[in-house]
Amino acid sequence: MEDHVKVNYDTRIPNNVGLSSDRKVLRALEKWHPGFIDWWNQLIPPRYQQSMVYLRTAVSADSKGWAKFDYVKMPDYRWGVLLAPRQEDRTIPCGEHYGAPAWQEVPGEYRNMLKRLIVIQGDTEPASVEQQHLLALSAPSLYDMRNLFQVNVEESRHLWAMVYLLFKYFGRDGREEGEDLLRRSSGSEETPRLLGAFNEKTPDWLSFFMFTFCTDRDGKMQLESLAQSGFDPLSRTCRFMLTEEAHHMFVGENGVTRTIQATLEAMNRVNIDDPYDIDEIRSLGVIDLPTIQKKLNLHFSLSLDLFGQELSTNAANAFNAGIKGRYMESKLEDDHKLVDDTYTVKTVKNGKIVAEEVPALTAINMRLRDDYIRDAARGVKRWNTLIRRNGVQFEIKLPNEAFHRQIGVFKSVHADVDGDLIGKEEWDRNVSKWLPTSGDNDFIQSLMEPCYEPGRFASWIAPPRVGINNMPGEFDYVKLHMA
Ligand SMILES: [Fe+2]
Ligand SMILES: [Fe+2]
Repeated sequence: MEDHVKVNYDTRIPNNVGLSSDRKVLRALEKWHPGFIDWWNQLIPPRYQQSMVYLRTAVSADSKGWAKFDYVKMPDYRWGVLLAPRQEDRTIPCGEHYGAPAWQEVPGEYRNMLKRLIVIQGDTEPASVEQQHLLALSAPSLYDMRNLFQVNVEESRHLWAMVYLLFKYFGRDGREEGEDLLRRSSGSEETPRLLGAFNEKTPDWLSFFMFTFCTDRDGKMQLESLAQSGFDPLSRTCRFMLTEEAHHMFVGENGVTRTIQATLEAMNRVNIDDPYDIDEIRSLGVIDLPTIQKKLNLHFSLSLDLFGQELSTNAANAFNAGIKGRYMESKLEDDHKLVDDTYTVKTVKNGKIVAEEVPALTAINMRLRDDYIRDAARGVKRWNTLIRRNGVQFEIKLPNEAFHRQIGVFKSVHADVDGDLIGKEEWDRNVSKWLPTSGDNDFIQSLMEPCYEPGRFASWIAPPRVGINNMPGEFDYVKLHMA
């Protein structure tokens, strides 16, 4: 009964999990709902709560045609519980139970491990909304504002998705975790969010684009590995979340592309060839490429930290249990147990970065991080193609994985963006070349003037090539409430 692809919108909580006949979970979610709405209402400035936003809402969990677009006031957005359709005969894709039927109920021996993974994933979702909650005030266009809100409502729905799993499968402690997800808050002294990068500020739109490019991509990789879970409800939940996550990747990559585009166009307009002619370039009301690079260095290194320790028994245990797979686990061709396999990791030995073969099971985090780096590199390559086509000599690069790390083997060393180990003094002397300075941030902040006219864009960002849902350039993506 729980496998309707169509979403039921009759209950207060839209869902395709048969909530109306699951009274206990429905009641728990309904009890949680007001707290969630409170959280949302306190977060997003009131003016935008009253505005009509052109948003997509999931109306089906079918991969073709799952969403519809329409104007909606955000507090009325239909946050819901959506799982991808159940695959008949799905089996546990990795670890010691490889090949056994996927679990439809929580396997007792892995209960705590599962709950922990769901809570951590759940914690990141509202955190990002909190980090971004003031950005609408300086939106460079209504198109961008709409994209921000789309990301925000979907991240909030992802919170719902995790809370549903907690309520449905983890009884009373699941409900307590659900309350705590609303109690913690990004950047808070007493009750911060669980992961470092989710307590950082997102003070400007370039940070937002870099965050969605780098940090949402970490989210995507985590969801990919949870989508491979042998616990089927988690797998189905994450598979559906990934369809939404693709848009977040788009917002990030495209936002940076358009930022670069505006810079290149401005440079070409007044014949500046030298990308390091920073004062001249900034005087054109655009962000110079070296500063864009520094922002990438910051957000990329913070996001690498989210993968945790390179060698991790927790990660090995989760894989071995079949609770969390590798990226594209079901497409990989090996024994899916990794008992005798090895994997190459970088580590620091005698003051040098060296490659080392380690048991593959312990290197699960490292492997996911490598997959992440490859995924991110594709976007960077497209930015460089754009730069080259505009005849400017500059190459954007992902910083080396040893650069600016707070977690893992590189935490204890200083490395430059190329991964050469350096002393503290050299770091201090050069860090302003690699990471945004307060001067860089002040300059970016000075450009963050709102641009609220349909079809118009702030000086520092180019219009998108196509509109959302193929809407024309002048389309009114947000009908602002003028109180
Ligand atoms: Fe998310
Ligand atoms: Fe996301």
